[in-house]
Amino acid sequence: MKILIVGSGGREHAIAWKLSQSRHHPEILIAPGNAGTASIGRNLPIAALSPDAVTAVAREHAVDLVIIGPELPLVEGVADTLRENGFLVLAPSAAAARIEGSKIFSKRLMEKTGIPTARFSVAETAVEALRVLEDFPVPVVLKADGLAAGKGVVIAHTLEEARTAVLDLMEAKALGDAGTRVVIEEFLVGEEVSFIILTDGVTVIPFPPAQDHKAIFDDDRGPNTGGMGAYSDSRILSPAMQAQILRDVVEPTLRGMEADGAPFTGFLFVGLMITADGPRVLEFNARLGDPEAQVLLMALDSDLVDLCLAAARRQLADVEVSWKSGPTVCIVHAAANYPGRPLVGQRIEGIREAESEGAIVFHAGTGVSGSDIVSTGGRVLGVTASGESLPQAIEAAYRASAHIHFEGMQRRSDIGTKGLKRW
Ligand code: AMP
Ligand code: GLY
Repeated sequence: MKILIVGSGGREHAIAWKLSQSRHHPEILIAPGNAGTASIGRNLPIAALSPDAVTAVAREHAVDLVIIGPELPLVEGVADTLRENGFLVLAPSAAAARIEGSKIFSKRLMEKTGIPTARFSVAETAVEALRVLEDFPVPVVLKADGLAAGKGVVIAHTLEEARTAVLDLMEAKALGDAGTRVVIEEFLVGEEVSFIILTDGVTVIPFPPAQDHKAIFDDDRGPNTGGMGAYSDSRILSPAMQAQILRDVVEPTLRGMEADGAPFTGFLFVGLMITADGPRVLEFNARLGDPEAQVLLMALDSDLVDLCLAAARRQLADVEVSWKSGPTVCIVHAAANYPGRPLVGQRIEGIREAESEGAIVFHAGTGVSGSDIVSTGGRVLGVTASGESLPQAIEAAYRASAHIHFEGMQRRSDIGTKGLKRW
């Protein structure tokens, strides 16, 4: 069996790593992949993650299943073109990926189906946005409608900041077309949770709850990044809270998408704020989170090939899923100057030593240069380890991480510590 993974980050390395342990012994192809995926399967160069280019690679290698990692190819309809050409795909259609690709679409879906979320208004022009701002107390949240690589959300603490953000987004087009329309919404207070499910549109397999660490510096200070680390821990959500989220958020979302003519299949990421008034949806993503995927796939006990095939074939009701006990922690090692333009081309040392501690080092922005592994992007590596308890998992991940070195490396020293209060 040949499986093609589309993407090149830590999430895609984690998917390849977990697939490689399957009893089916699949041949794994990754387009384009990174230095880590090259040690598991075969990296395939690809000009762009466009529908035509991905379909051409799938056809050339006669693959049996395609798994798409990142959001852009989902929103651009790669899954649709692959299906039209007869390939089995684990990923949502472009119509279903609007749940991530358009904040307005997802807020309207939540409004229509009664899913708990922040109070909001949509503005189509800057003048309208400035007027809408009068109806919201500060802090207030502004969200560009379209995909913006993690840069589309502004939390404004004063009306002045909010007005500046409106002009930046809607007049100066700081994010291009993504900011032509905006969602303005109420600021929510609480603890954030990443809750991911796998679905074939009907059956839902919940993953253990996880938390990301978006800010670049300790104590959630500094600018937001793609994610500086994550941990998974069943204690983040009580079983009752998890059941409530499945009933009040996940089920209505899937029914709403179906009613909209866009049934959702694949990984659905629900970003939640657990407020004093209960869970509220912050956002949906049409994919596995990154770095959440690294911790969740390490925590998965079942065979990922079985799960992916069953989901793609809409037979998820037939599979049993089991999880390893205990939390898992992933510490991201980022390049100098990230989340600004990263310093790349640095030689990375200590990967083998880190893995000899029992951790797995998932590669994100890495490439091979001669006999060296070098950095090629902002997030470079994710050192991932599990433990019987959260303190043990944190300790194991940091012990392994201590071996990693490259020039200008940035790493938070508090990944997972928010969860220690539950232990
Ligand atoms: P997103 O890019 O949609 O993941 O949003 C980035 C971050 O902004 C989230 O992880 C939250 O920390 C924060 N955020 C988004 N919406 C809200 C909200 N309504 N209230 C408070 N924080 C929010
Ligand atoms: N970790 C959040 C995301 O993948 O968007």
